[in-house]
Amino acid sequence: ASLVQVMMHLGEMATATQSLPDETLQLLGDELKYKVEVVSPEDEDRELLESFSIEFGEDSGSEQDLRPRPPVVTVMGHVDHGKTKLLDSIRNSNVVSGEAGGITQHIGAYQVGTVVDEEDRKITFIDTPGHEAFTAMRARGAQATDIAVLVVAADDGVKPQTAEAIDHAKAAEVPIVVALNKIDVEGADPQRVRAQLTEYGVVAEALGGDVQVVEISALRGENLDGLLEAVVLTSDAALDLRANPDMDAQGLAIEAYLDRGRGSMATVLVQRGLLRVGDSIVCGDAYGRVRAMLDEHGKNVQEAEPSRPVQVLGLTNVPSAGDSFLVVKDDRVARQIAQQREARERFAQQAKSSRRVTLDNWQRT
Ligand code: GTP
Ligand code: MG
Repeated sequence: ASLVQVMMHLGEMATATQSLPDETLQLLGDELKYKVEVVSPEDEDRELLESFSIEFGEDSGSEQDLRPRPPVVTVMGHVDHGKTKLLDSIRNSNVVSGEAGGITQHIGAYQVGTVVDEEDRKITFIDTPGHEAFTAMRARGAQATDIAVLVVAADDGVKPQTAEAIDHAKAAEVPIVVALNKIDVEGADPQRVRAQLTEYGVVAEALGGDVQVVEISALRGENLDGLLEAVVLTSDAALDLRANPDMDAQGLAIEAYLDRGRGSMATVLVQRGLLRVGDSIVCGDAYGRVRAMLDEHGKNVQEAEPSRPVQVLGLTNVPSAGDSFLVVKDDRVARQIAQQREARERFAQQAKSSRRVTLDNWQRT
């Protein structure tokens, strides 16, 4: 019998040239006593890494090997509510780091220090605002963010993109801290905004909920400390952020570009382990040895611990935002993984553009 007939027998109408959904393939396999495995690109990649005895995304070792790590924050909110201004003000006002003049380099993410309960604490900000980057990363199975800072202009209130940002944060199960911005503007009405937010399930502590809502002026740099403190407190109350700082480093590419003189410049966020100059790494289908690392002050650093963003020099080409990176045993392994990923990608592209295998010609082979 032809496959089309088998399909009809199964109650599925099909033409000889159409492509089939995964479930139908599974059904067809069962009927013909074939084992059909539908493999997602993520599974395929996991298998590739496993063939090198690498597990991505897990802290190795036991409970005792885990150490606290700073929260990673993404700033979201409606157009013009002050996301960029806020990221700039925090960057410029960060005196705790001891750097005169604040942070000068835009590397896609930066880390700031703050003092909470007489303790030095750190927070990592992803420097590209907006939920697009956030969702794009999540769509690729990568979650960089621990906490979402939702910027809402106190004179404008909750707007469509505010609501969208809330949805995204909830879907990702990421706690929200509200930065009630533009408190300096005439017509600012923080009470009204707090009430509005409750309609979206974001209930301020003042209204009996557990969301920290902090009134700020990004323009004047007012109460930024209060906002940073709220982020730390939310992290402590809602999250138990820990990572193993002693394993081979793993994490994500945040942004990357090609510099004329220095080659591939990739900002990566270390999520676990310790990244060191000299490590062999793979990042997407880019690979290489870490030649140098720069922090957000443009300073050379020798190593980077969990939640630390650093710019990495030495990759063969430019990875994409959201690509995972990992340290491997040596350059040879790095190259092999990168090449296999690239080959797979090329194959997938070809399969898309070339004539598909149809039920008709499959039957004849
Ligand atoms: P998009 O990137 O377009 O979505 O906007 P954004 O959210 O990044 O807003 P941005 O930081 O560009 O700020 C928009 C405007 O509001 C700018 O003119 C800022 O100077 C102004 N602004 C931001 N924060 C404040 C504030 O606290 N007070 C006042 N008065 N103006 C502010
Ligand atoms: Mg902006």
